[in-house]
Amino acid sequence: MNKFYHIVTYGCQMNVHESEKIAGILSGMGYESCDFPEQADIVVFNTCCIRENAENHAFGNIGMLKKLKQAKKDMIIAVGGCLPQQMNKAENLHEKFPYVDIIFGTHNLHDLQSLIEKKRRQKKTVIEIEDSEGEICEEDKPLRTSYPNAWVNIMYGCNNFCSYCIVPYVRGRERSRDSRKIIEEVRSLIAEGYREITLLGQNVNSYRGDLTFPQLLEEIAKLDGKFRLRFMTSHPKDFSPELIEVMAKYPKICHCLHLPVQSGSDRILKAMNRKYTSAQYLEKVAALRKRIPDCAITTDLIVGFPGETDEDFRATLALAKKVNFASAFTFVYSKREGTVAAKMPDQVPEEVSKARIMELVELINSQTRALSQTYIGKTIEILCEDYDGKRGLYMGRDEYGRMGYFPCDKNVVGQFVNIKVEQANGVSLTGNIVD
Ligand code: 5AD
Ligand code: SF4
Repeated sequence: MNKFYHIVTYGCQMNVHESEKIAGILSGMGYESCDFPEQADIVVFNTCCIRENAENHAFGNIGMLKKLKQAKKDMIIAVGGCLPQQMNKAENLHEKFPYVDIIFGTHNLHDLQSLIEKKRRQKKTVIEIEDSEGEICEEDKPLRTSYPNAWVNIMYGCNNFCSYCIVPYVRGRERSRDSRKIIEEVRSLIAEGYREITLLGQNVNSYRGDLTFPQLLEEIAKLDGKFRLRFMTSHPKDFSPELIEVMAKYPKICHCLHLPVQSGSDRILKAMNRKYTSAQYLEKVAALRKRIPDCAITTDLIVGFPGETDEDFRATLALAKKVNFASAFTFVYSKREGTVAAKMPDQVPEEVSKARIMELVELINSQTRALSQTYIGKTIEILCEDYDGKRGLYMGRDEYGRMGYFPCDKNVVGQFVNIKVEQANGVSLTGNIVD
């Protein structure tokens, strides 16, 4: 009889890729993927805890499975990833949801098979939260779900301890993969037909193998075949002239950079422990634009960090105006227990943060819309990612990360196509294929 798994993923690309590794483990055990928890023999929640709403979202969905579990006693529910890795959270989860069978942390992912086998032998909940990160496990073969893109981890963990951020506590210290293993993985992905490689790390610029990050990127960019190369995330403090040179030299490296600034106020940047000033950030942006004028720059911004005054917030708006980001993720500061910022005085009232985020989103949207308008009439190269059944159009992205939709009477997923842009609706473009 066939056995089925269903994975629910929250959070960043790192988690999306780790869910592919979970899928790899489960398929190695003979499970097949299914679309709904009702059909599944095992449901895995791969969780995130970066902001409170990410946690609440997961809690809500785990709660909704209670009835299903009562009706399907043999179904296994596993909750893993960043949420249970936080201090005392695994116990809380167990108390709140006693019907969850397996609770595992970020460093236990590769043990999932043995945790499932253990659960089959024992009645009580299996809880495995490793405190230390240990060696990098190269054994997990992901079952990839994002063709024609392939995510490739180059490093794990973070040493930066930005004062608001829980990531260093749940993902441990920085560990870099062996550069030869990374290059081999990319080489075989290209041979398999992947057309976009995205290198992943919390701060790729602090990659420390026998190569530096710019050297690693260069080696990958030299590989044969037509593919696009992206990477994320870059911490501004480590974003270097060497990296700009490599980006400029190799056409395979997309002219697109995610460079989270978080705030435009030097006082707040200092309190956030970001280790750069707004002027230093702007200098890096200017150096990048001087060498690669068409480079799209995207960012992350936080409003309502403790002590943020209206003047600080205005500085964030001013910086966003100056840089003219291609797009940005905007967040309301969320207090994370155990971080330095959680103990800071002057937490900003919710209404103030809400008003600020609305103003910031309006600015970013207007910049994104204006940039979209400049595309009209231009021809862009899109890597087709998917067919959007609702719109009846294929979709993909250009090298700058802009989404483009187009009609086509044959399946072109995984192919590069040239589109003449006819319409720009907010962040996405629509057009027709041209030769
Ligand atoms: N509150 C709000 N946003 C946060 N981020 C990280 N921690 C928090 C927090 N406590 C944001 C940062 C980071 C992105 C991944 O999430 O902007 O760059
Ligand atoms: Fe969090 Fe800062 Fe590390 Fe990014 S660099 S994961 S924001 S601590």
